[in-house]
Amino acid sequence: MIITTKQLFKIAYGKFAVGAYNINNLEQCIGLFCGSLDSQAPFIIQISKGARDYANKSMLEAIIRAADKLYPEAIFAVHLDHGDEDTCYDCIASGFYSSVMIDASMFDFNKNIEVTKRVVERAHQKNISVEAELGELGGVEENIQVDEKNAHLTDPDQAAEFVKQTGCDSLAVAIGTSHGAYKFKTAQGLHFDRIAAIQKKLPGFPLVMHGSSSVPQEEVERINKYGGKMAGARGVDENEFARAVPLGVVKVNIDTDGRLVWTAVHREHFIKNPENIDFRKPGKIFMNEYAKFIAHKNEKLGSAGWLVKVREVM
Ligand code: G3H
Ligand code: 13P
Ligand code: ZN
Repeated sequence: MIITTKQLFKIAYGKFAVGAYNINNLEQCIGLFCGSLDSQAPFIIQISKGARDYANKSMLEAIIRAADKLYPEAIFAVHLDHGDEDTCYDCIASGFYSSVMIDASMFDFNKNIEVTKRVVERAHQKNISVEAELGELGGVEENIQVDEKNAHLTDPDQAAEFVKQTGCDSLAVAIGTSHGAYKFKTAQGLHFDRIAAIQKKLPGFPLVMHGSSSVPQEEVERINKYGGKMAGARGVDENEFARAVPLGVVKVNIDTDGRLVWTAVHREHFIKNPENIDFRKPGKIFMNEYAKFIAHKNEKLGSAGWLVKVREVM
């Protein structure tokens, strides 16, 4: 069952974070539904502009609607990840999305407000909620390269002003994470003091953590063992999610980890079975492994076990 992102956040705030997982194909979709049901967790299914270009927006919608029918117990929201203005309008008009993200964080503060406000006005007319972003994450974000040294954390006073002026429903904050598989050179760099300061200015307001893949070292080792080259890949410590929840983080974005599981499974499979050309064999292994990964992640996010409660409240 597709529900609104707003409903999910209302239930989750201060209690657990909802895992927001990107999908690009049916294998990821099935793994996500199965893992979420195994862990009895609500979830957010995210579609990026890149995913819409790769798999076609209608195809992705059809896959998700089919999964909804196949797994009627699942409760989830559908979200546009890192949208530009035009893509947001397209998703709002489609009637399929529960929420959209307008990412205008590459613009200066005033232009970010201007663009975000336009999207919020259009989305709210259709009861769709809007995630915006303030501050810059390091790493690669959609087509935008943000140099590590220029990445800056979200300013709490600006965050309060931004939310007041735009009317956005949730805010992606830069608190030390970055997109991709190379987040930290040495130790962890999450700034919990910064999240706490933002929450103080925006009590009860849903915050979103992007760039939250944990880059499991066993997957990195497996990829390297079977011919990959991912030296120095490092992610967020998944045990830190629990610290972010009481600070107002309700949504945690994970994409890279899914790619790591996919790559590890396929590299291992084809090296061990050089004669095989049936992609359904590794495809099946991936779906099972991805489901296990999702279930484990939902445990770490605290969303595991909440499905019954969410259904009662709906
Ligand atoms: O933050 C970006 C997401 O990981 C989506 O990546 O644009 O390559 O689909 P993508
Ligand atoms: P990762 O690259 O850490 O998976 O982050 C994904 C993300 O933030 C999607 O918006
Ligand atoms: Zn992101």
